[in-house]
Amino acid sequence: MIKPPEHIAIIMDGNGRWAKKQGKKRFAGHIRGAETVSEIVEEVARKKINFLTLFAFSVENLSRPKKEVNLLMKLLVSSLKKEFKRLNENKIRLCAVGDLNTLPNSVKNELMFVIEKTKKNKQMILTLALNYGAKEEIIEAVKTISKKVKNSIIPPEKVDESTIISHLYTRNLPPVDLLIRTSGEERISNFLLWHIAYAELYFTKTLWPDFKKEDLEEALSNYKKRERRFGKTSEQIK
Ligand code: IPE
Ligand code: IPE
Ligand code: MG
Repeated sequence: MIKPPEHIAIIMDGNGRWAKKQGKKRFAGHIRGAETVSEIVEEVARKKINFLTLFAFSVENLSRPKKEVNLLMKLLVSSLKKEFKRLNENKIRLCAVGDLNTLPNSVKNELMFVIEKTKKNKQMILTLALNYGAKEEIIEAVKTISKKVKNSIIPPEKVDESTIISHLYTRNLPPVDLLIRTSGEERISNFLLWHIAYAELYFTKTLWPDFKKEDLEEALSNYKKRERRFGKTSEQIK
């Protein structure tokens, strides 16, 4: 039988459509979506899954109307303030990946505070992908590696998988075992390209604000039925 996933990643999509269905402004969907984050984080930790990575804000999302971007940043700060105690109670360590430097100071400060104050927690690593784009992440890695090659710090023939991984924002994360995307869209949207190379993909029509423990259960039971062959034959892995 397949081992339980060590690393789950989620593209939390559909907040805007959820709000529209209720006749509300998009932002109401983001608020309800933040509540879902809180429930699902706790549930994943309870299941003893070591890594959960959430796509919270993409580099492309910066092109949304300024008002929505600002409200999302404010929501992030208030959610961090609100969830901080619960993260510690559940022994969850917070990390963040993405171009964090260009985030507003209010977000950066709160984020750094919670990251610092949860760094000893061992139950689960929760990583927020913020201002994140996997192509940008790879470009940054290539730039740094090129400089090191040019300065003879890394011999070019020694560049391998581990060289690349160790220069990614996501260097401390294991490969993703299960990638979930809500809202019915079946695309990756520039999320974790390297780490999902062999992930099992699970798409559900459920909108993120409606995603409950039962939906997570369904994703996990679907995952359980898969056979991960990694290029081998079925007989080889039996
Ligand atoms: C996901 O929901 C949240 C973010 C991208 C920040 P959306 O805001 O993309 O919701 P839809 O896709 O418009 O329904
Ligand atoms: C991906 O969702 C980003 C996040 C969930 C944070 P989007 O809603 O931005 O993606 P597209 O535009 O549908 O591909
Ligand atoms: Mg969307």
